[in-house]
Amino acid sequence: MLGRKIIYKESLDSTNNYAANLLKEGLLVDGTVIVSGEQTAGKGQRNSQWYAEPYKNIIFTCFVQHVNLSVDSQDAITHFVSLAILDFLKEKNIFAQIKWPNDILIGNSKISGVLIENQLKSHRCTSSIIGIGINVNQTTFGDWNASSMQLQTGLNYDIQELVFSLIEKLQHRFQQLQALDFSALKNDYLKNMWLKDQESEFEDQNGKFKGTIQGTDELGRLLIESNGSVQSYDLKEIKFLARNASAGDSSCIQKD
Ligand code: BTN
Repeated sequence: MLGRKIIYKESLDSTNNYAANLLKEGLLVDGTVIVSGEQTAGKGQRNSQWYAEPYKNIIFTCFVQHVNLSVDSQDAITHFVSLAILDFLKEKNIFAQIKWPNDILIGNSKISGVLIENQLKSHRCTSSIIGIGINVNQTTFGDWNASSMQLQTGLNYDIQELVFSLIEKLQHRFQQLQALDFSALKNDYLKNMWLKDQESEFEDQNGKFKGTIQGTDELGRLLIESNGSVQSYDLKEIKFLARNASAGDSSCIQKD
């Protein structure tokens, strides 16, 4: 049961690191949630940093164990987590999309980021440390192209209440994963994918090109059709370019 144990800290370097250290010491129970008021060294994807104004945002990590999940099905973890965040936002009348693999956007602005660190053993994914940052009551982001729940609705939120609601949505989607309902998760993920089926501009090792996102392959790589051929990309191999000046790369709230 997700949230069977909740640890709250005023300040941590990173909730994901805190979870990883507990795991190393054999002290991390399945379903544990760690919440912090602030992070002094929050981690983002691709070795970037995650900044969030103290006490105004959701800074959250949960730890889940998997019974029998093949490493080839790891993208189902990405799917369940992204969809749970969309469910959570939708309940507040905030309609977001998923920028592959798991940035959560409103329009072109990032409202939430996810950092999943999977533990692997003999071709199995045994557990996941799932870090989630959601912009809640923060309203200024400097140069970052970001949004928050308050910017979307004008409301001020109680973070603790939101954390319980997020846990509920994660638990619901996690049950789909446990039931091995991978195709339903993937279908929902694709339905909510940012820029899918719309011609956009990208950059790969050969330079800039126009292409159309088709979805993801069986390993979760991004599929882009361009000039009649479809190519798959890992996270480090492709960059989204702006459809307009503000769309940018995924680096809102992040600094490489
Ligand atoms: C990204 O978009 O690059 C991922 C950002 C993930 C941020 C969250 S905040 C809670 C958890 N702890 C971390 O250090 N990172 C994740």
